[in-house]
Amino acid sequence: MKDSGNIILRLFFNRTVSEIPASIKKNNLQTGKDVIPLGLFGNLATLRICMNGGKIVKIGVIGAGTMGSGIAQAFSVCAGYEVVLCDVNKDYAERGRAGIRAALDKLVEKGKMTRTAADAAAAAIHTGPNSAASDCGLVIEAVLENMDLKKEIFKELAEICGPDTIFATNTSSLSITELAACVKRPVVGMHFFNPAPVMKLVEVVAGLFTPPELVSRVSAIALDIGKTPVEVKDSAGFLVNRMLAPMVNEAAGILAEGLASAPDIDTAMKLGANHPMGPLALGDLIGLDVCLAVMEVLYSESGDPKYRPHPLLRKMVRGGLLGRKTGRGFFEYQAVDKKGC
Ligand SMILES: NC(=O)c1ccc[n+]([C@@H]2O[C@H](COP(=O)([O-])OP(=O)(O)OC[C@H]3O[C@@H](n4cnc5c(N)ncnc54)[C@H](O)[C@@H]3O)[C@@H](O)[C@H]2O)c1
Repeated sequence: MKDSGNIILRLFFNRTVSEIPASIKKNNLQTGKDVIPLGLFGNLATLRICMNGGKIVKIGVIGAGTMGSGIAQAFSVCAGYEVVLCDVNKDYAERGRAGIRAALDKLVEKGKMTRTAADAAAAAIHTGPNSAASDCGLVIEAVLENMDLKKEIFKELAEICGPDTIFATNTSSLSITELAACVKRPVVGMHFFNPAPVMKLVEVVAGLFTPPELVSRVSAIALDIGKTPVEVKDSAGFLVNRMLAPMVNEAAGILAEGLASAPDIDTAMKLGANHPMGPLALGDLIGLDVCLAVMEVLYSESGDPKYRPHPLLRKMVRGGLLGRKTGRGFFEYQAVDKKGC
């Protein structure tokens, strides 16, 4: 539920001081929890309110793919957050927003969300190129799992965002410390899981230069949107992927050896290990390109052959069989389902 204070805050989002009704401007801007003395902003040409009593309300998400869209949706359904969903261009970002809209509509159809709440969530998401995230309090990078690309993104953000903007990355496995070193400012890992609107866990990853206060702050944001943060130190794959990606990789190996069919491998792990889905279906959901990238990082960082990506995984990625997002991976999917669920 959106509280009234936050609706007021939202109403004034990006409005110029002159657009604020005199009755409110005369006194103070009353939010749910705070009274912001407008005198503080009186001499500014544009009043952008990105904080609510220290709570960051404008979130930038870079990359409108599976994870970026999911993260944007997870924030949009929570009280008081505005999201700017960015991609290489506005059209790509709009495609991400259309996917979110469809996901919200599905929730309404299933009776899991009211039409009013879905409309409010959709209205809280704006789109644009990466530069549209310049005035966000927190920017979460969710582009492809590629260190060079992520470095490029953070360099671009460092040029357009203020010094107080929190830089976070949704990387599944890459070094937070290396990303921070490249922009010479703190970066924190904010690792959501797929599908981000549903999965409760957020790994909050501290690099060598991440101040503990930043870790606490980002953990508090995760809690605020109904997630459960688990703090972890920077290391390849963090906690979950260090265990999960090798399982998907091993399942690919078992399939390649012809020991069992894909459905039987998955059934074995569902019924024998009480997993809600099998490792091959999970790989398809995550994206086999992402699984391969995680294995490559685990292997190159540790040098341990137990993390060697299986050739079948590599071959499937080369062939464009990435899982749900391309319609075919270990299994086939009727329609290309960007959300993977
Ligand atoms: N898929 C998962 O299950 C999962 C889970 C957790 C974390 N992650 C991580 O999240 C990140 C994104 O993964 P994904 O599965 O969403 O990938 P994806 O391929 O679905 O989406 C990546 C998006 O990044 C965009 N992009 C590429 N270059 C860009 C640029 N220069 N500027 C802006 N946008 C750009 C692409 O257009 C695309 O929309 C990766 O780091 C991945 O490791 C993935």
